[in-house]
Amino acid sequence: MPLVSLRQVLDEAAKGGYGVGAFNVNNMEQIQAIMEAAQETNSPVIIQASRGARAYSQDRYLYHLMMAATELYPEIPTVLHLDHGNSPETCFSAIEMGFTSVMMDGSLMADGKTPSSFEYNVEATLKVVKAAHAKGVTVEGEIGCLGGIEDGHGAGLDGLSHLTDPKQAVEFVKATGLDALAIAIGTSHGAYKFSSKPTGETLKMGRLIEIHNGLPGTHLVMHGSSSVPKDLQDIINKYGGKLKPTWGVPVEEIQLGIKNGVRKINVDTDSRLAITGAIRKVFFEKPEEFDPRSYLKPAREAMKKVVALRMTQFGQAGHAGDYKAISLADMAKQYAAQPVAV
Ligand code: G3H
Ligand code: 13P
Ligand code: ZN
Repeated sequence: MPLVSLRQVLDEAAKGGYGVGAFNVNNMEQIQAIMEAAQETNSPVIIQASRGARAYSQDRYLYHLMMAATELYPEIPTVLHLDHGNSPETCFSAIEMGFTSVMMDGSLMADGKTPSSFEYNVEATLKVVKAAHAKGVTVEGEIGCLGGIEDGHGAGLDGLSHLTDPKQAVEFVKATGLDALAIAIGTSHGAYKFSSKPTGETLKMGRLIEIHNGLPGTHLVMHGSSSVPKDLQDIINKYGGKLKPTWGVPVEEIQLGIKNGVRKINVDTDSRLAITGAIRKVFFEKPEEFDPRSYLKPAREAMKKVVALRMTQFGQAGHAGDYKAISLADMAKQYAAQPVAV
């Protein structure tokens, strides 16, 4: 089947009460790892590429690799999503390129660092919604800012300074007509999220539930949702790496989120850790090797393992065959029948 819209995949996930992992890619091996994991677990797939990933893969490689994925796995509904679009123009170029879903991250200014005003966020997101929906493409927006790379105040790893305000979230969804809403509940991007195991208090799960209660029909998105498993950290450090002790988002907290409206869960760091550990192991144990396949194959396998595990834990496993693709043209017709209110 052709690439499908994120909206369709998330609508189906809401019906089934499960979440869907959105895994970042930059190259062929990562796409292969995700598709193999999806086949093994019979899961629908969200593959996402950041601006950095698009630059790295020169867009065209990425596009054709994704076409190869849909040819090789026609039975698996697969979304190609732009992660953290920094401006309407970035989103438009992704739509032009064939992405079936885009994130307009208007919680930050176009520099990708400075927290924006509510008005700017509404204006930029609405602009993208209008253009994207006319083509049947899905839009994810964000209200509140994550820690890590989204922290514009240089407060380091603090993900708590710009939490999502539940009332503002309702206003934002009403004003933009978006399809999925990313919220800030104390997570941050990257490996260094927490210096001890976070509880539901550290993670502000109560706020997530409050947001969901105000927006029961909106698909919520959790960014910064890698669990940063200790076993993957240990492999890296065992083979010469120097990761400092760190904790990610516990899977049970993500599962609580899924019970409360979270449908898309963004994971990049766990894949990076799996790949790096596997490559370090080969370099350490077989320093005589120089065929890239000798370390890229185990790297791909390690990423597949962690992705397949997350697909099972998020509940998407077993759901690939539940539905047939709605074409983007038909999605556009559906949007046209329900235009944005403002
Ligand atoms: O949101 C961040 C993702 O992990 C992508 O990271 O911008 O380094 O590709 P990147
Ligand atoms: P992690 O760094 O926790 O994997 O988050 C990835 C993410 O949110 C991509 O948008
Ligand atoms: Zn993110």
